Amino acid sequence: MPHAKTFFRLLQPYVVVVHTPRYALGMEIVGLGVDLAEVSRVRHLLARDPERFRSRCFTDDEWAYGHRFNDPSERLAARFAGKEAVMKSMFTGWRRIPWKDVEITGGGPPRVKLHGKAAKRAEMLGIVDFKITITHTGDTALVFVVSLGEHKT
Ligand SMILES: CC(C)(COP(=O)(O)OP(=O)(O)OC[C@H]1O[C@@H](n2cnc3c(N)ncnc32)[C@H](O)[C@@H]1OP(=O)(O)O)[C@@H](O)C(=O)NCCC(=O)NCCS
Repeated sequence: MPHAKTFFRLLQPYVVVVHTPRYALGMEIVGLGVDLAEVSRVRHLLARDPERFRSRCFTDDEWAYGHRFNDPSERLAARFAGKEAVMKSMFTGWRRIPWKDVEITGGGPPRVKLHGKAAKRAEMLGIVDFKITITHTGDTALVFVVSLGEHKT
């Protein structure tokens, strides 16, 4: 019988440690969503009628977060793409869910907050959480979303 240390060293090449967050245990993927937004399109909408764009599409926190930056278009484009990606992950779109009912937080890792019809739809589908990741450049914003429900056996 080899010494314990030697035993584990022999095993090492075959051991992969997977850190599964505790909350992820017992969860299953309900849906996926992805969306790409052109920053120039958002810049154009912002220049044309900012008040209309704000009141139709963004929560106060999203608007304030975007305006922390010299050019708010990039962050707002990311939030816009994020809303569509979340809707896709719930098998629906902007014709059924008002834009402001899906909120994407800003500052550090993003999170999804649902209101009104979006929250009702998530409840109907058994969605209890979302995982979201965002990337953007001066030209485009890309968002990927996973909706999660509790695993049913
Ligand atoms: C977070 C980071 C990877 C973003 O990469 P980037 O190439 O600069 O920018 P991207 O366009 O790809 O991504 C930006 C998005 O990343 C997301 N993001 C920010 N911080 C994040 C984090 N800690 N984890 C996951 N996503 C994060 C945000 O949604 C952000 O978009 P937003 O500003 O519109 O909210 C990079 O800025 C970084 O490494 N920062 C250091 C953060 C860090 O190490 N913090 C430690 C604190 S404990």
